[in-house]
Amino acid sequence: MAKRIVKVIDLVPGQAVQLPSVDNETLGHDQFWSGFVCPQQPIVVKNAVANWPALRKWGTHGYLEALTNRQVSVSDTFNASPAGLWHQNLPKYRLDEAISCLRNAGPDDTFAIRALPIPQEWKADLGSYDFLDAKRDLPPRAYARDRLFIYRNASTEWHYHTTDETLTTQILGSKRISMFKLSKADWHAYAGPIRSNLHHMDDRARFFPSDGSLTKFEATLEPGDVLYIPPFWWHGVDPADTGFGITLAHCFRTPLNRLGSLSDPAVKDVIRAQRSLMLALRMRAFVALGSLTRIVNP
Ligand SMILES: [Fe+2]
Repeated sequence: MAKRIVKVIDLVPGQAVQLPSVDNETLGHDQFWSGFVCPQQPIVVKNAVANWPALRKWGTHGYLEALTNRQVSVSDTFNASPAGLWHQNLPKYRLDEAISCLRNAGPDDTFAIRALPIPQEWKADLGSYDFLDAKRDLPPRAYARDRLFIYRNASTEWHYHTTDETLTTQILGSKRISMFKLSKADWHAYAGPIRSNLHHMDDRARFFPSDGSLTKFEATLEPGDVLYIPPFWWHGVDPADTGFGITLAHCFRTPLNRLGSLSDPAVKDVIRAQRSLMLALRMRAFVALGSLTRIVNP
């Protein structure tokens, strides 16, 4: 009997439209910054890293396995909750054995090695982003600078990032992504059911607004493509094939004048979820500083 592969994108109802894309050659530093990062608009940059050696080399059986040797956790489920602690007790394997296992797995197997820092020996096969000015590629505030996701059939559950800008960089395999931004008016109607995992129920439709009016921006990333993900954009990811895949998430710091607003329901939600009053106050102060900077430097 075929094993069940969990997909997440279509579990949230909405109208799918094509996410805008641009060719790498036509996207300059200033256009990327002022046209997408500052207004927090996602964009797919086609063939942005097509010249990275990793795209030619990493698909070869035995190549990555010979380069490195360390322990990693391997999950045999989709990435259920990117922010949760569910993955802490996963079994550990040698990275070379884990990669070999994923390469040789069946087309209906699900495996994920998540958020792996780039092994030093692999870095020579990666490059930089033509469209991102090196002076603006500053260390992120909350997320790791670089995380590799090595997978087979492993979707990533709907979530959003509270700060830091992300360049989802497809190296091997193809992925379907879907994104939406909620307003004050529809935040609770969608964030509530998703947080409660009600979208995984067979009768999921009854937990969401019946008009299906949510606009979902969607694209398929091929090897070499990069997706820019701004903070507070909900996104879900499904592999578009059943093969061995590798994605790199590269993060850089959100400019101070683009930190969220205290009136934004997403920001309120994050402040409410802080573990202590001190953390909540710190975050409020940080966001207020961002708002102040926005007045001085809009
Ligand atoms: Fe994400």
